[in-house]
Amino acid sequence: MGWPLIGETLAFLKPHKSNSIGSFLQEKCARYGRVFKSHLFGWPTIVSCDHEFNMFVLQNEEKLFQSSYPKPVHDVLGKLSMMLVSGEFHKKIRSVAVGFINYSCKPRCGNYNFLEKLSLSFIDSWKAKKEILFFNEAKELTFHLMMKSLINIEPEDPLAATIFRDLQTFMKGFVSLPLYIPGTAYAKAIKARTRISSTFGEMITKRREKKHIINEEGDCLDELLIGKHWLRDEEIVSILLDLLFAGYETTSGLMALVVYFLSQSPLAFQTLQEEHQVLKARKVVGEYLNWEDYKHMEFTSYVICEALRCGNLVKFVHRKALQDVKFKEFVIPRGWQVLPIFSSAHLDPCLHEKPFQYNPWRWDDSATSRKVSPFGGGLRICPGSELGKLETAFFLHHFVLNIRWKLKEDDCPLSCPYMEFKRGLPMEIIY
Ligand code: HEM
Repeated sequence: MGWPLIGETLAFLKPHKSNSIGSFLQEKCARYGRVFKSHLFGWPTIVSCDHEFNMFVLQNEEKLFQSSYPKPVHDVLGKLSMMLVSGEFHKKIRSVAVGFINYSCKPRCGNYNFLEKLSLSFIDSWKAKKEILFFNEAKELTFHLMMKSLINIEPEDPLAATIFRDLQTFMKGFVSLPLYIPGTAYAKAIKARTRISSTFGEMITKRREKKHIINEEGDCLDELLIGKHWLRDEEIVSILLDLLFAGYETTSGLMALVVYFLSQSPLAFQTLQEEHQVLKARKVVGEYLNWEDYKHMEFTSYVICEALRCGNLVKFVHRKALQDVKFKEFVIPRGWQVLPIFSSAHLDPCLHEKPFQYNPWRWDDSATSRKVSPFGGGLRICPGSELGKLETAFFLHHFVLNIRWKLKEDDCPLSCPYMEFKRGLPMEIIY
């Protein structure tokens, strides 16, 4: 169980390649098996590297287990965050978020067109450069996508730059040591979150005063204001923050993972390119992509799912046992923390043949999808999974057709524990 209080937390959090399970889990599993006990984040903990057990935990949310993130996460995300609340309140705000995300995914021309126009304008801007940091560029792209659909802010608006700066400060602090001392990354993150919240709060006040709707279709904020959700202002702010935080770094991370793995698999890249050439040939010049096109991007979906399996954007989630729970030969004592580790199932040789190999064709077998859980599961399964995949697929369409590139060095994705590229994924643009 390690040292008093900190237990084995530092060893558990030690960065490692995200397409591996890291030395801590490797050693523990070799010694104690795929489910073992430890002391992490201040709590006695059951760590599970077993897919079946992970699914059991996730499927029993609110019955036997409950989402339970460490206190510093509460301070950074805010007490109303969807990730932290449970019961009826969770159900209520989740249904609002799901409504918005489903709406964004629907074939609403405005949304899809903006996604494509923005992807093309980013790709065009890269053509004038010799080198870009792909992960950083992707973060900016997905940030602007979220800003447009949440609060209808265009990339050129100075407010976008201010919120983007604050969001980056927030993200740095989210993964730092939780020391609330002025000047630390953690303290700066809490301040940055407060500033973004006040900006959203002021927008709500203005829209309520003017009773104006921004555009015909309405953005997410309009929908929250005019909808029949009866939400308090602080709840609306919290939902906007949740969607912004949860939706921008994950999708950009997914885009970067796809590009990283494609750079190592020329055959997969060529197959992907061919799929998009065929798709382009079917369209009238200038015609936008739509939901039907997305459904036809079969190999693209394999490429994306395989990047999620190998790259492990989200390594694990936090739960706690609500009562003594028996599962097979294990007993999890009430109050203990439980950490289902997704990456270990994704890279388990008993579940996946040659698990460390990036092989999109393995998704031809429909059974593969039952052996992974990149979006979690149960009541809290990610509501943005389809949106994140769709944005990545549409971006890839233009990326594989419009630009030639190669990665400058092997900037391997790291699990810190959130997925990160240490150098931002440097990419050379080829003329
Ligand atoms: C593209 C890659 C993405 C990955 C790998 C991912 C992964 C996850 C995972 C594993 C969870 C479950 C957390 C838990 O059980 O504690 C989650 C929850 C969530 N995700 Fe995603 N996500 C992605 C994209 C998105 C997008 C694009 C959005 C929104 C626009 C989004 C919004 C959310 C929200 C609101 C939750 C909380 C759900 C709840 O607690 O009920 N995600 N995500």
